[in-house]
Amino acid sequence: MQKNKVLVIGGAGYIGSHVVRALLKNDFAVTVYDNLSTGQECNLFADAQFIRGDILDFQMLRQTMSEGYDAVVHLAAKKAVGESMDNPQKYALNNLNGSVNIFNAMIETGIKNVVFSSSAAVFGMPQYMPVDEQHPVCPINFYGYTKLKIEELMDWYSRLKDFHYIALRYFNAVGYAADGSIKGREKNPQNLLPIVMEVATGKRQKMQVFGNDYDTPDGTCVRDYIHVEDLASAHVAAIRQLLQKGDSHVINLGTNKGTSVLEIIEAVERVTGRKIAYEFAPRRAGDPAILVATNQKAQKVLNWQPDYVNIDEIIQTTWNLEVK
Ligand code: WQD
Repeated sequence: MQKNKVLVIGGAGYIGSHVVRALLKNDFAVTVYDNLSTGQECNLFADAQFIRGDILDFQMLRQTMSEGYDAVVHLAAKKAVGESMDNPQKYALNNLNGSVNIFNAMIETGIKNVVFSSSAAVFGMPQYMPVDEQHPVCPINFYGYTKLKIEELMDWYSRLKDFHYIALRYFNAVGYAADGSIKGREKNPQNLLPIVMEVATGKRQKMQVFGNDYDTPDGTCVRDYIHVEDLASAHVAAIRQLLQKGDSHVINLGTNKGTSVLEIIEAVERVTGRKIAYEFAPRRAGDPAILVATNQKAQKVLNWQPDYVNIDEIIQTTWNLEVK
């Protein structure tokens, strides 16, 4: 039987490389399209074709897509929340224009299906917990705004054209492939777990915990940490859903479970056996106290469940990279 062909745009990045790995394991023929601006060559797989290209290069996108694909996975984006507030132009250009290029090239070349990396950042300050797909969207940073606009664009295209999409709203992605096959660590990590890991390895002396006076059990913020391999398996399920049924959806990807900043630090101490030096610092602007997803829709539409539910096991997969 002929393999289904998938073009993974942004496939050399942290989440993209895990998606490529999962697609290869599930017998898809994969091509990665990436400009390697944040993606890394060490994240590429010999079994996947690689094209070095930029999403702002419409001709190259169209030429690539004219080879014919059953689906596109679009993960290419700028994703630093703070930077998006300082330099919204960069985020408008890359995230908005880049996505328009991708979707227009799909329509011109007759590719009907796309799985898009969206984000819990579309919700802004949540009004109730856990967050479902009906929760109002109201981003409070420019990064989240770009993700919401891209969702809306896909919704319009799906109504006007033979265009089918699944937007996956990731909550906090963490961990690495348990077999150590993906090695590319982010260079200037902004997110909690990579920062705690840098303290564990001695690369950083100590870290700050932003706020200890939230209305949460231990006063620190609670997030829904989802293992990147679980995110990846949801992409495989989303592509299958699109190929079989073709309905468009927006779906939250989380674990239904919240973990506080202090609980993350304690779990890292347990897993690594090292003491994590930290100090309490003022709250970080724009941080909700709690952000946890309900993944009922993902279970129902994608027949998907996260395999990783234990935070120590999730952190172990990150620590494996340091000790191997
Ligand atoms: C987690 C918690 C911090 C660093 C971000 C984006 C979101 C999504 C996922 C992409 C918070 C605290 C952090 C530190 C700390 N991205 N923290 N000290 O903000 O929940 O989500 O990544 O789509 O859009 O906003 O993740 O890892 O930055 O923070 O205390 O040095 O850790 O305050 O409570 P966040 P994060």
